[in-house]
Amino acid sequence: MKLRDVRELLRLRPLELNRTRRLLAACHDVEDLRRAARRRLPRPVFDYVDGGADQECSLADNLQAFARRRYLPRILRGAADTTTTTQWFGRSAAAPIILGPTGYTRMMHRDGELAVARAAGRHRLPYVLSTVSTTSIEDLLASGHPDLWFQLYIWRNRRLTFGLVERAAAAGYQVLEITVDTVVPGNRVRDARNGLAIPPQLSLRTLLDIALRPAYWIQMLGSPAITLANTGEIPGTDGDLTVQNLASQFDPGITWTDVEKIRGLWRGPLLLKGVIGPEDARRALDAGVDGLHLSNHGGRQLDRVVTPLDTVAAVRGAVGEQCCLLVDSGIRHGSDVAAAIALGADGAVVGRPYLYGLMAAGEPGVEHVLGLLQAQLLRTMQLLGVASVQELRQAGATLFWAGS
Ligand SMILES: Cc1cc2nc3c(=O)[nH]c(=O)nc-3n(C[C@H](O)[C@H](O)[C@H](O)COP(=O)(O)O)c2cc1C
Repeated sequence: MKLRDVRELLRLRPLELNRTRRLLAACHDVEDLRRAARRRLPRPVFDYVDGGADQECSLADNLQAFARRRYLPRILRGAADTTTTTQWFGRSAAAPIILGPTGYTRMMHRDGELAVARAAGRHRLPYVLSTVSTTSIEDLLASGHPDLWFQLYIWRNRRLTFGLVERAAAAGYQVLEITVDTVVPGNRVRDARNGLAIPPQLSLRTLLDIALRPAYWIQMLGSPAITLANTGEIPGTDGDLTVQNLASQFDPGITWTDVEKIRGLWRGPLLLKGVIGPEDARRALDAGVDGLHLSNHGGRQLDRVVTPLDTVAAVRGAVGEQCCLLVDSGIRHGSDVAAAIALGADGAVVGRPYLYGLMAAGEPGVEHVLGLLQAQLLRTMQLLGVASVQELRQAGATLFWAGS
């Protein structure tokens, strides 16, 4: 038997020499990327992303809420021309998937927000920049992404807050969303146990970690300092960037009046982000918002709070068909995106999934996750027998086996 015959018999594939490509080729879903991220990152950083508040009941519920749904597909409807494309406030996107705002992204990988925005732009999906980003509103424009959104925290310093709104408008951000579920910070027990410091600091434990995970530390030690790129130094803290210092800037006194004031400043589409029940949803429309982003912050704020997926149908009932409704917290698969839409949402927002990709492999890792989610969504829609996002919305609850 010749060598070629042996190769064919064993179906030997040429060895992939590029480490990143080899790693990503072995990642077939978000959980694979999560595991790769856990291997690569120091524990305090990984846990900061992965963890939730208190006993992490809501974090677990978020995942369960999707996993327990059971579909009832429609058959023989022709799935050859199925498309996942959609529209946000008149602009088209490749799929009803949005990359949600996450703070401190350069702590996960030195390329941070720019890497995420470039990957999102290539996949034609909107990306929401966080107030507490480590790349500024203006610097992110270098990504070339034409559909950037901005997330606003209402800080104690209102001049600073309103200044951010003006800067986002001047820089051409398309949508503004105000996060309203952080009047005080959630109690992240993993961070407290790990003694999380931002940026990660040298301690005995960190030195051991450097020995175990040199790649992360080499990358970080050679990168510009991690700072709050939009807001600068926090007053009264000697410039120290810690979770506690940051939390002290959130204003527990925010009310609807603040939302109305910001509505007056921002001309584009305005969304509210947080846990929003049917009654508050109607109140939000009275305050002039254009849409709602139902979210429990990925289980990172109030623990034991309802999972947003379970509230979608009731909120849709309260606000009617035209109001833009986004949902997040627990989306890990394209099938979850399809479920969110069939239950009444217009789109699904992801947080941790793209961060796992970023932590595992930088920009190619984010691209990989987005490719997986889009392919999973398309396949789910084809197997469900719906040809478009609109059909998915219209089919609604009929796509689920009663009671699931
Ligand atoms: C590490 C991390 C940082 C976050 N930072 C912010 C933030 O700055 N502003 C915000 O509105 N939401 C923030 N979120 C919440 C996300 O926008 C989103 O609501 C949540 O991650 C969705 O849940 P998922 O992670 O299960 O997809 C953050 C989430 C994570 C995981």
